[in-house]
Amino acid sequence: MADTQPKGDAESMESVLHEERKFPPPPAFAAQAHVKSLDEYETLHKESVDNPEKFWAEQAADLHWFQKWDRVLEWDLPDAKWFVGAKTNLAYNCLDRQVEAGLGDRTAIIWEGEPTPGGQPEVRRISYKQLLDDVSRFANVLKDLGVKKGDVVTIYMPMVPELAVAMLACARIGAPHSIIFGGFSASAIRDRVEDGQSKIIITADGGWRRGKPVPLKENVDEALTMTDRVEKVVVLERCQNPVTMKEGRDHWWHECAADASADCPAEHMDAEDLLFILYTSGSTGKPKGIMHTTAGYMVYTATTAGITFDLKPATAQAESPDVYWCTADIGWITGHSYIIYGLLPNRVPTLMYEGAPDTPDKDRFWDIIERHKVTKFYTAPTAIRAFMKWGSEHIDKHDISSLQLLGTVGEPINPEAWMWYHQTIGNEKCPIVDTWWQTETGGHMLTPVPGATTTVPGSCTRPFFGIDAAVVNSEGDEMPTNAGGILVIRKPWPSMLRGIYGNRQRFIDTYWSKVEGYYTAGDGARKDQDGNFWIMGRIDDVIVVAGHNLGTMEVESALVSHPAVAEAAVVGFPHEIKGTGIASFVTLRGGVEGTDQLVEEIRDHVAHELGPISKPDLVRFTDALPKTRSGKIMRRLLRDIAAGREITQDMTTLEDVSILAKLQGQG
Ligand code: WT7
Repeated sequence: MADTQPKGDAESMESVLHEERKFPPPPAFAAQAHVKSLDEYETLHKESVDNPEKFWAEQAADLHWFQKWDRVLEWDLPDAKWFVGAKTNLAYNCLDRQVEAGLGDRTAIIWEGEPTPGGQPEVRRISYKQLLDDVSRFANVLKDLGVKKGDVVTIYMPMVPELAVAMLACARIGAPHSIIFGGFSASAIRDRVEDGQSKIIITADGGWRRGKPVPLKENVDEALTMTDRVEKVVVLERCQNPVTMKEGRDHWWHECAADASADCPAEHMDAEDLLFILYTSGSTGKPKGIMHTTAGYMVYTATTAGITFDLKPATAQAESPDVYWCTADIGWITGHSYIIYGLLPNRVPTLMYEGAPDTPDKDRFWDIIERHKVTKFYTAPTAIRAFMKWGSEHIDKHDISSLQLLGTVGEPINPEAWMWYHQTIGNEKCPIVDTWWQTETGGHMLTPVPGATTTVPGSCTRPFFGIDAAVVNSEGDEMPTNAGGILVIRKPWPSMLRGIYGNRQRFIDTYWSKVEGYYTAGDGARKDQDGNFWIMGRIDDVIVVAGHNLGTMEVESALVSHPAVAEAAVVGFPHEIKGTGIASFVTLRGGVEGTDQLVEEIRDHVAHELGPISKPDLVRFTDALPKTRSGKIMRRLLRDIAAGREITQDMTTLEDVSILAKLQGQG
């Protein structure tokens, strides 16, 4: 069969969705914010793009440098170096700097475990001083095990404080970490260990997930039957599930740390020394080891976290008025940048939760927000759509009035989900920051600045300071207002990826070859009359129907705006008459039954919202959509199912394999 999914030509992607609702920043919020008005944002944005060296030098001045830079920026894209000649250390800026400023007793991390023994949540509050001691001690453990500056350390751990300790210990001694999400399997560990040539793994016996231990050590053991690269394994005791320890290779964390000294001076790292590798799964081919370096990543994540979440620091006199919670796993870039590295330098307590949102019950998140008085909350559209589906009774049980700002990341948020978030969680008083960025960008790229930006449901609004974003055709010419095209970044920014580990050519082919001289993210977008950006979906997912190129996001959002629909995914499929038809996979809100009549009603609803070309030819109800472990809908699998093709694709990133069997009618 010919390829039934013609590669989208995003140059002419057509927009059919129109959103009119607008939400200016609440005046009380704007009055106390770091950036207080649209004028202030626009002036500063222009200055920062015209003269990035001045802007970023000012941001960097707040942090600690063992040696100042000679030049802020040297670039010749795709290569750029930031803070050239400087020496610093990110762990030092996360910890020592706070202790030296007299904030040693302030809270760095609030951790909540999953189990609730006897109905009591398991909570730990860790101060900067205590975290510094733990990090220094573990840094000495790593050194004793032979880890040297530049050695790649693999970390495969649950969401426990020791995961933060392990990564900061690596940063302290200059050993780049490669964190593998704890939901990945043995073969994913093998691939990453091999690619990164890593000789040491830090893991745990297990991690709690929905009341059961995830067998992390067992997965490591299995991985190590497939590679002999690894010489040392450090094992944290968390779940007390049985594990086998291999003499000489495996070491218990608590035994190694017991006699380690808590004195370990931070290594003076060159600004461009490798800080970490993080693998991102391309939809095809082997995962790409995205490289981030020290100084640029540090300055960018600290600046974006401070401004996007409008964080207010602790002082020697008082704790921060903020309690910040990002629900991502540290195994993803969101957790690297916005649980740990961007947060600790801002002197705001960062909350870490080990478990699932529905354990022991579907109100767990709201219970955590109530008990810890969370002020800033950052989660993903997939979670928001699940909360909508579960219903508001779980939220009504709790007082979540401490919330002041809400964030979202990971996928386009459908306007109806945005409205629900705004009304039901934000009580119509919290600005929403819809942050568009990628593993590769290191930090927020397009995002509201909460005291300044008027938000629009479904739009990630405008570029962050220093970011020169545009929507262009493949020649690099800007598209007219509201016409869909290729989203690019035209100038370097401090936390841009420095490459794909061990594969220069793939780095150039993937990000720098579609539009000459510009970074291409792989997303389609349009820019509206107010300068707001709208992500229309991945360019590879574009559906070409009767000569019209449709992005997936708009049709999905129209589906979700039907009151019966909780979540939707659309893909193209071979259609006898039209060539390509639109197939939609839909999950319904709690209590709704999927009848033939509802199919017709939903199809008509989309046609009414977007016009007849966007009317789905097929509507299939399903209990769940296939998603990656980070919560993104896997449209490429649905494409095969809609076409009746056998699935030949790589499914290792699929979160729940049983969903596929059901969709194929075998389950
Ligand atoms: C891709 C990057 C950045 C951390 C989590 C994902 C999509 C991400 C948004 C958003 C629309 C978004 C894009 C992007 N994406 N945030 N706010 N609106 N789309 O990191 O796994 O590297 O994925 O996620 O398609 O390219 P990632």
